Amino acid sequence: MYFCNMANNEDIFKKIIAHSKEYGFIFPSSEIYDGMAAVYDYGQNGVELKNNIKAYWWKAMVQYHENIVGIDSAIFMHPTIWKASGHVDAFSDPLIDNKDSKKRYRADVLVEDHVAKIQDKINKEVEKAAKRFGETFDEQQYLNTNPRVMEYQQKIEAINSRFYAALGKEDFADVKALIEELGIVCPISGSRNWTEVRQFNLMFSTQMGSVSEDAGQVYLRPETAQGIFVNFLNVQKSGRMKIPFGIAQIGKAFRNEIVARQFIFRMREFEQMEMQFFVRPGEELQWFEYWKQERIKWHLSLGIPEKKYRFHDHDKLAHYANAAADIEFEFPFGFKELEGIHSRTDFDLKAHQEYSGKKLQYFDPELNESYIPYVVETSVGLDRTFLAVLSHAYTEEKLEDGSERVVLNLPPVLAPYKVAVLPLVAKDNLPEKAREIMDQLKLNFQCSYEEKDSIGRRYRRQDAIGTPYCITIDNETLENNTVTIRDRDTMKQERISMDKITEVVQARIKSL
Ligand code: GAP
Repeated sequence: MYFCNMANNEDIFKKIIAHSKEYGFIFPSSEIYDGMAAVYDYGQNGVELKNNIKAYWWKAMVQYHENIVGIDSAIFMHPTIWKASGHVDAFSDPLIDNKDSKKRYRADVLVEDHVAKIQDKINKEVEKAAKRFGETFDEQQYLNTNPRVMEYQQKIEAINSRFYAALGKEDFADVKALIEELGIVCPISGSRNWTEVRQFNLMFSTQMGSVSEDAGQVYLRPETAQGIFVNFLNVQKSGRMKIPFGIAQIGKAFRNEIVARQFIFRMREFEQMEMQFFVRPGEELQWFEYWKQERIKWHLSLGIPEKKYRFHDHDKLAHYANAAADIEFEFPFGFKELEGIHSRTDFDLKAHQEYSGKKLQYFDPELNESYIPYVVETSVGLDRTFLAVLSHAYTEEKLEDGSERVVLNLPPVLAPYKVAVLPLVAKDNLPEKAREIMDQLKLNFQCSYEEKDSIGRRYRRQDAIGTPYCITIDNETLENNTVTIRDRDTMKQERISMDKITEVVQARIKSL
């Protein structure tokens, strides 16, 4: 087998989206009513993959760390929480409209896209030079000395520093001026006819109870983290937790994203897997480094190559942080944020203490003093992890017999089904025997049973949803209680004893 010369990344991304729908991973929400932008439903295979990612994260964070426990807090929370956290006043995006196309954009995304184009030019120069110099090529030296590349880099630095300074000062007139000076045009109308830049809050609000007007206004949480902060003392006291300790949570978050694009990368309703780690003041930066390393190890444990990930340290820190880094993943549309690791200081607990009037302090028996702990947060998007795993797994192969197959090379631990049970034909007592095997296996694994269509077509269908092992029941099974086990990636088949299937599959599915 060899890999098809994959089309360009945009085509591949379109194929992944189409594949997700065709094979029951992801459907556009409310499709029969023409859908809703940036809202998606997970189908029968998608929900299994998603649940397996959650379980994999939970096991790594909660089960393997004795000092981390989980919670599941409500989506609705007291509205003052969002005032204290800064979300009411500061959780907004700078927006700009194009007067000709009437399309609305995030000013920061327009600038970032412009910077990405310059970065592409640098990457192309590096690629060309690498080819030219061959093995002697020293990329770092080239980046530091090539005049054209240095000029591009200076341009990027100048744009970023002006942009972040303007945003920091809320000088939106300068953000607009920068967009104009960079000659950024609307991708639809091609014009530079921009409105002023203004801030737009991303929180969804709704009414609770029958209270009129603003009195009953509540928000759909834009992050799960605040549910952890406001339960900090409940968990610490009821769980007799000693600092350092963490609280983890997986749950829905909602943001009224303006630029809704790139499939499940940026959604209005999504899920986060977050952990807040409470530490002694002054020790937060050590823990920040620790969690950066722990989290990258977790991603790499999924078997995706290291080159698909990189750290991006933040220049511009959020209002609550004294250090922050993203783990970026190379999606089909380029490197983008997958996870945020933030040293949030004591900002949140201090703010909740002030707004609620309740003490949120920890008595440290070793130091014999009380303090508000500092917090290091790890926050990874579940849907983005899904997209990273799926887009890496999607492979088109040309086989030796000239046929092609699409296979999802998912890590077995995440695959929706671990085993497919397939009678070779739907007659001659094979289905009965296959059912007997299925009834045994399903006690241990998520299994799929299929008897319709030729065995070849059924193998392809299982490949397309990423099932790592197919068990085939044939006439020999009736004679000597053996079956064949087919490996998804190599397509090789082996004959094994029926009573060894569980053991063999278990050994091959390397779990955490
Ligand atoms: N509590 C910190 C926090 O929410 P964030 O960087 O805004 O930080 C954390 O979000 C992670 O949540 C991101 O790295 C991303 O994976 C995911 N995320 C954020 N907005 C998202 C969206 N609109 N759609 C899908 N995932 C999103």
